[in-house]
Amino acid sequence: MSLDDLKKAAALAAIAHISSGMKLGLGTGSTAKHFVDAVGEKVKEGWDLVCVPTSEATRKQAEGLGIRLTTLDETPVLDVTVDGADELDSDLRLIKGGGGALLREKIVASSSRKMIVIADDSKKVATLGKFPLPVEVVPFGLKATGVKIEQAFAWSGNKGPITLRMRDGKPYVTDNGNVILDCALGRIENVEKLAAALSSIPGVVDHGLFIGMASLALIATAHGIQELRRQAS
Ligand code: A5P
Repeated sequence: MSLDDLKKAAALAAIAHISSGMKLGLGTGSTAKHFVDAVGEKVKEGWDLVCVPTSEATRKQAEGLGIRLTTLDETPVLDVTVDGADELDSDLRLIKGGGGALLREKIVASSSRKMIVIADDSKKVATLGKFPLPVEVVPFGLKATGVKIEQAFAWSGNKGPITLRMRDGKPYVTDNGNVILDCALGRIENVEKLAAALSSIPGVVDHGLFIGMASLALIATAHGIQELRRQAS
């Protein structure tokens, strides 16, 4: 089974948690793309679904498939958001934002009664941090914000190089007009403390740590789908 087959298997497993009449959040990335395709199939079969996309890329894909879209202004509470992740641990804490959509992904997931993560088993880790943590930052005062991010790392017991994400020789710009700092921490200590510290920095719009949001993860392995549930805290 190829990696893409596993991503597709995870995405198709999520369809079992969806029914006609639901309001859905549609994630972003190569795994979520398979889920959006599967939603498109259900719409063709006649299911009544209305969806909020988490990025312009997902919006374009969904529009191409004839999926009815809404906004969080029209529909502020969704039933389920299904999205991928760059890493997840056994407490269903996630690193997201490898595709640059972390801010809209977090707004949409936090507006949903349930968030389901879909991933191949390479995303499951014992400790978060091997995947560089994306932090979405306002371009104004970028250097000063970077210094404060380093201070937040030191305060929470973390350390690692910060790199401005580039695309085609220019800073990568998110759907919201911001830039992304990728923080190679290797192993994230005190995840909650780091998340809170990053959220308190004025120039930080949001960060890729999703804590206490996902309640179910569908992990595709060569032997089938593994379901991970978050224990209520
Ligand atoms: C998009 O910004 C990300 O949060 C993605 O959900 C994440 O990067 C997973 O993407 P893949 O499914 O492509 O690995």
